[in-house]
Amino acid sequence: MPERPYVIDEMISAKAIAARIEALCREIADEFEDTDKLVVVGLLRGSFVFIADLVRELDLPIEVDFIEASSYGDGMESSREVRILKDLRSGIEGRDVLLVEDIVDTGHTLNHVTQLLRTRGSARLRSIALLDKPSRREVDFRADWTGFEIPDEFVVGYGIDFAQRNRNLPFIGKVRFTD
Ligand code: IMP
Repeated sequence: MPERPYVIDEMISAKAIAARIEALCREIADEFEDTDKLVVVGLLRGSFVFIADLVRELDLPIEVDFIEASSYGDGMESSREVRILKDLRSGIEGRDVLLVEDIVDTGHTLNHVTQLLRTRGSARLRSIALLDKPSRREVDFRADWTGFEIPDEFVVGYGIDFAQRNRNLPFIGKVRFTD
């Protein structure tokens, strides 16, 4: 893909993200207060910053695992076909699972991974996405918790990339091309 110059405009500050995570974790802790075996599963790679902040706010006994599904490659277009590139290390049969995603866009990724974990016999399965772009949805899927609903903009930062760049920004910003 050709290089196009762009700037990043801040959309959600680091402070707003931290406050939202605190509130979400109170709800998640209520939901899972009776569990002694929660597995928090991060969808790589975009959720790595979110899951790190989330688990440190969660006062529950947890294990952490990761799964990687194919998504955008190096571009801006979502692929419809979801493939598992890296699978979980843990068996999740009979386990309570919290699936952690960066963004729900068309919905194909979370929909696919949720169904996969169900077929493996997870017990209670809940999902959380930091961001949701409801206007882009192609399959009927809603995460159980969402941090922020955003418009149809391409965003980066806080773990989320554009062609593998900008994951290390502490805030969520929107990409604006300048050419
Ligand atoms: P879905 O399968 O279309 O819901 O796509 C979800 C995945 O697409 C996310 O996990 C992200 O990796 C990627 N994605 C969706 N929107 C954006 C964006 O604005 N910036 C970067 N990646 C995105």
